[in-house]
Amino acid sequence: MAVERIDKILSSQNTEGRSAAKALIKAGRVTADGRTVRRPDEKFDPEAVEIKIDGKPVKLSRFVYIMMNKPRGVLSASTDRHAKTVIDLLPAEMKRRGLFPAGRLDKDTVGFILITDDGELAHKMLSPKSHVYKLYEAECDRELTEDDARAFAEGISAGSEAFMPAEMKITGEKTALVEICEGKFHQIKKMFHAVGTEVTALKRLRIGQVFLDENLAPGESRYLTEQEIVDLLDRKHGICHKN
Ligand code: URA
Repeated sequence: MAVERIDKILSSQNTEGRSAAKALIKAGRVTADGRTVRRPDEKFDPEAVEIKIDGKPVKLSRFVYIMMNKPRGVLSASTDRHAKTVIDLLPAEMKRRGLFPAGRLDKDTVGFILITDDGELAHKMLSPKSHVYKLYEAECDRELTEDDARAFAEGISAGSEAFMPAEMKITGEKTALVEICEGKFHQIKKMFHAVGTEVTALKRLRIGQVFLDENLAPGESRYLTEQEIVDLLDRKHGICHKN
């Protein structure tokens, strides 16, 4: 059994470094196997110990995969000098070094953003070649028509940019679901702009076959299940897939 200092275990997995881990321990916020740990140099088996911060379990694993319901006004970035980022919103027990948002939602876009430290999975999920579809709900500033849906299905061109054919399903006078597997900058907004309407609200509902958990309030996060991690890269698509 290879034992390690608890501040080392914590900082290798969680928090922003050894001094942050020590501060959490000294503040009495860390328990190991149900007992509050007071000394940062106390040793435990990292394979076996159950660590909690503020009573919430810390996941000790190689990579983590977190679903956040991104609120409006927050940046999809790891750090920013001025604005709040999705990483800033994570609760203490979920924070660990190397986390980043896989892909970008605009500051005013809400919904499902994946936060992980698994660069390879993020790359697969984001590459258009992987054909992992993302589903968005958009609200526009005029009534949407079947002509708009046809234009999306044929593939929108906007200036020098061309977007792959995309399914669009009108769900209300000014609302639609749109599914894309590319992730070009402002893509959904640009596609609607190209057919003569502006997006007034945008929410991501699904990545691969994983839907945004409706129990997550804006700003809240939870870990993906093992099955959801597999389903993230599922290439199935078609707007009516929710079961
Ligand atoms: N398309 C957009 O225009 N904005 C987003 O945030 C995501 C997709």
